[in-house]
Amino acid sequence: MAKINILTPDIYNKISAGEVVESPVGAVKELVENSVDAGANRIVVEVENGGFGLISVSDNGCGIDEDQIEAAFLKHATSKIAVIDDLYDVETLGFRGEALSSISAVSHVRLTTKTENAPCAVCVEIENGKTATKDYTAAATGTKIEVRDLFFNTPARRKFFKTPQKEGVEITKYMAKFILTNPHVEVRYVCDGTTVYDCAGRGLECAMFAVYGHDCVANCVKVDERRDNVEVHGYIGTPDYAKANRTYQVFSVNGRNVYDQRLSAVIGQAYKPYLMTRKYPFFVLNVVVPADEVDVNVHPKKSEVRFAKPDTVYNLCYRAVDNALQRFIREKTSELIAATNGVGVQADDFAGFDGTTTFAGEQNNAQNQTTTDAATAKYFAQNGISMPDEQQNGNSASGAKDIFRQGSFTDAEYMNR
Ligand SMILES: Nc1ncnc2c1ncn2[C@@H]1O[C@H](COP(=O)(O)OP(=O)(O)OP(=O)(O)O)[C@@H](O)[C@H]1O
Ligand SMILES: [Mg+2]
Repeated sequence: MAKINILTPDIYNKISAGEVVESPVGAVKELVENSVDAGANRIVVEVENGGFGLISVSDNGCGIDEDQIEAAFLKHATSKIAVIDDLYDVETLGFRGEALSSISAVSHVRLTTKTENAPCAVCVEIENGKTATKDYTAAATGTKIEVRDLFFNTPARRKFFKTPQKEGVEITKYMAKFILTNPHVEVRYVCDGTTVYDCAGRGLECAMFAVYGHDCVANCVKVDERRDNVEVHGYIGTPDYAKANRTYQVFSVNGRNVYDQRLSAVIGQAYKPYLMTRKYPFFVLNVVVPADEVDVNVHPKKSEVRFAKPDTVYNLCYRAVDNALQRFIREKTSELIAATNGVGVQADDFAGFDGTTTFAGEQNNAQNQTTTDAATAKYFAQNGISMPDEQQNGNSASGAKDIFRQGSFTDAEYMNR
């Protein structure tokens, strides 16, 4: 066996920097999340050359006190947790205290920051985690971090990156998710001089408009359900609005954008009766769970979480999506009946559509049921989709149980306005 070497801080800093920031989009994610944690409600992100040239993130958050600046770039330095128990009740997006140190280990960083009570802003340039230059300047309260020449000192890694164009696309995709996950934050995202997104931060509908255009909300159904202490809110696309891939699936937990394969499968299951193969539902959903019932410290990138009561969360998501879809189909059906017969039929008349409750209009209604089934079949036929089994069986709850049997899824000027 060869001699065991103790690595120098320079080497192990670069190794661990790679876990946190493995590509330009990782750096963008960490910087904008810091802005959210700083209480910002206005963030500007500018990217050049796929993030390799420049990543600039400015916010109107609380700023960093002058005497804290150097500490912010130290490894394991954070203002967000202090003792081990805090880790099980994290309410901020960051908590590991390694993003700024990782980014500054592999790039040239300039930070300009001002707190509310400071007479002026401080501007520092950081090299190898240490302040190289320091100056005072005029700026509004908040922080601007400019990252240049990302990965300049790790040439071996550079050959594993995508082209700057493709890295730029990844950043754009991430920024779409960030905007949808933080709909009350005003966000402007500029890529190579072109403003790609300019979101006013007036709620989820506004964010969907900014990211996906005017027809998005019109093609979606609202989801808003709660069970015990778990809530799920957001929008799901109608069956006609299904997409060719999973890019359009945005899931967040307590405002943290996460990747969750099981959730994607659960929602796919709710849509199964309505979608053709290789079509994926559109959704933007945020689950609200008590902070002490979700483990956010699963991976250095913080993009996965573990629930204390996973079945409660996934069941609620399934049920919420299933209910919203059935509500949509009922409304469509009722419109079709009205158009076909010239007779207005209220959506409420179909309260028994899911087979779990009786029809409100059952007194009259073997005839209406037949009409409804015919209209539903017509809607499905018009949209090229097959009749859902549940509907035909009058039992929509069956799908929920099946899911859990599937063992295959693991758990600048703008700023100053
Ligand atoms: N935009 C910002 N505004 C105000 N303070 C900031 C900002 N960015 C960073 N900080 C301060 O610098 C500290 C270090 O940031 P860093 O991102 O490295 O760690 P973190 O956010 O605490 O944890 P994580 O590594 O999980 O992101 C933060 O805890 C925060 O106090
Ligand atoms: Mg952070």
